[in-house]
Amino acid sequence: MCGIIGYIGKRQALPLLVEGLRRMEYRGYDSAGVAVAMPSGIFTAHAVGMINALDEKLAALSGLAGTLGIGHTRWATHGGVTEQNAHPHADCTGDVWVAHNGIIENYSELKNELTARGHVFRSETDTEVLPHLIEEAARAYPEAGLGEQVRVALQKIIGTYGIVVLDRRAPETLIAARNFSPLLIGIGGGGIGDGEYFVASDASAVLKHTKEVIYLDDGEIAVLTPRGHHVSDLGRNTRTKTSERIEWTDDEVKKDGYAHFMLKEIHGEPEAIENSIRGRIVLEEGGARLGGLADALGVLREAQRILIVGCGTAYHAGRIGEYMLEEYASIPVETDIASEFRYRKPVFRPGDVLLAISQSGETADTLAAVREAKQKGVFTLGIVNVVGSSIARETHAGVYQHIGPEIGVASTKAFTSQVAILALLTLLVGRQRDMSLVTGERIGSELKKIPDLMREILKQERAIKKIAAKYKNAQNFFFLGRKYNLPVALEGALKLKEISYVHAEGCGAGELKHGPIAMIDKHLPSICIVPHDSTYEKMISNMEEIRARKGPIIAIATEGDERVQTIADDVIYIPKTLEMLTPLLSVIPLQLFAYHFGVQHGHDVDKPRNLAKSVTVE
Ligand code: G6P
Repeated sequence: MCGIIGYIGKRQALPLLVEGLRRMEYRGYDSAGVAVAMPSGIFTAHAVGMINALDEKLAALSGLAGTLGIGHTRWATHGGVTEQNAHPHADCTGDVWVAHNGIIENYSELKNELTARGHVFRSETDTEVLPHLIEEAARAYPEAGLGEQVRVALQKIIGTYGIVVLDRRAPETLIAARNFSPLLIGIGGGGIGDGEYFVASDASAVLKHTKEVIYLDDGEIAVLTPRGHHVSDLGRNTRTKTSERIEWTDDEVKKDGYAHFMLKEIHGEPEAIENSIRGRIVLEEGGARLGGLADALGVLREAQRILIVGCGTAYHAGRIGEYMLEEYASIPVETDIASEFRYRKPVFRPGDVLLAISQSGETADTLAAVREAKQKGVFTLGIVNVVGSSIARETHAGVYQHIGPEIGVASTKAFTSQVAILALLTLLVGRQRDMSLVTGERIGSELKKIPDLMREILKQERAIKKIAAKYKNAQNFFFLGRKYNLPVALEGALKLKEISYVHAEGCGAGELKHGPIAMIDKHLPSICIVPHDSTYEKMISNMEEIRARKGPIIAIATEGDERVQTIADDVIYIPKTLEMLTPLLSVIPLQLFAYHFGVQHGHDVDKPRNLAKSVTVE
């Protein structure tokens, strides 16, 4: 989703801004722009499309010297994808420039008022009301300083924002403010400040220059100058902030010779699982030790129900967790899409625990579900990858995924890591209840084997690529599974849609006969996940039904299963594991299939159209 970058210091701002924007490209965007304060005035450039288009415009110019600047990648919400709508946006004078993430809900009312007072708008965006409001505040309080002028403007805003602001008349000041849209301050000079600050919506944009960051909280405004920083709230109260160190290295944000981040991340799944489970399985006790839950053990022991929320891939991981926790930890679980959960009236009961799953820790709907539950007195947990992210900070307790940055928009290693952590949670909660030592040991030892089993599947990449080529012309796909592999079917379909723009439907195989089967013909391939588990015979029957209607079948089956070969047109084998852990293996062929299918269709699979990595609007 939209990316923000800002810089104030001694170095030339423009190259740092462009580099920061490039590092946030993976978040998804449709246009970009920069504004740099130069001695002669403000220089700006805007372009539709990739950062390269912006860079080409900038290359045609020379001598753009300035040590204060802001930049933005836009993912359109209000107003079409045009240069005029690309950020940063200015006031009438062209002195004040703002880059904004989020949505200003009362913008049309504000715009009407501002227009009536003579302001001229150049874009269709909600954002543009901000520079005009700051312009008015600067006129009303000329001596107040830019920080105060921005505060006055923000007091009129209803909605969400992460903003950076600069003003030609204040060449030594950069302002950042946040409300429900992630923003951090990177402390330059190797973490000691030294007159240099970055502002970014995403840590990866500043990692190369500093690992010392301050995360802004909602309602906070930061005034950054070469002399230091000051953070306060909308009511002018000073907020004391401590900086945090980011663990990720800059190298982790590179492709390492892979054609795409998505492919690197699929191949990184065995290691990601190792990192997610390292030191957390206590085999001799048949349990799990999760440091982030140490203070929540009492609450978990008493818990009567777990409510899982997430969006997209994280939601699918949650659905698998639901099966695991109910089957092995004997606790009722309900999983919901965060955007539904927060807008219906969830009826909480004493003993409820809400578990939010989110790679980025910033998904607006998931965060809102956490806040809703907290407000009702519910204990909240998180499974989050990005350290220091909003969901990680706002939940009462949680588990970090420790898988490094996930850059590909289509989530892969985050999914399997979340499922592995849900298995650990199942061990932990299960052993607090009626799970036997033997069962716990079995799950723990099988989970430890998963990374090597994943490596076996990854060796079949070439064969999977061939299968993707064979079905290249198909316009529709079904993904079918049962029980633990129903969410995997949903995830396989989501992956294909995301990066190939071909229609795919994930469906519980038992539901096939209640409608979807009407679609089956020789043009509609079905990808059937049919491991040797408790639903095997039923899956085989469903595959027979498809075959009887001439539907092509690609099966994901357990090694050694020859029967499947007699029904399916193509078979991809996965090693045997515990039924509850099969999703960790069965999803990998689906990820590789989607990847190669998307690449064969000529798509940029790391940056699929219309999608964003971190969806910070509702
Ligand atoms: C976006 C991404 C998906 C992701 C979902 C949830 O839609 O494109 O890949 O699964 O957000 O993201 P989260 O960061 O909360 O896991």
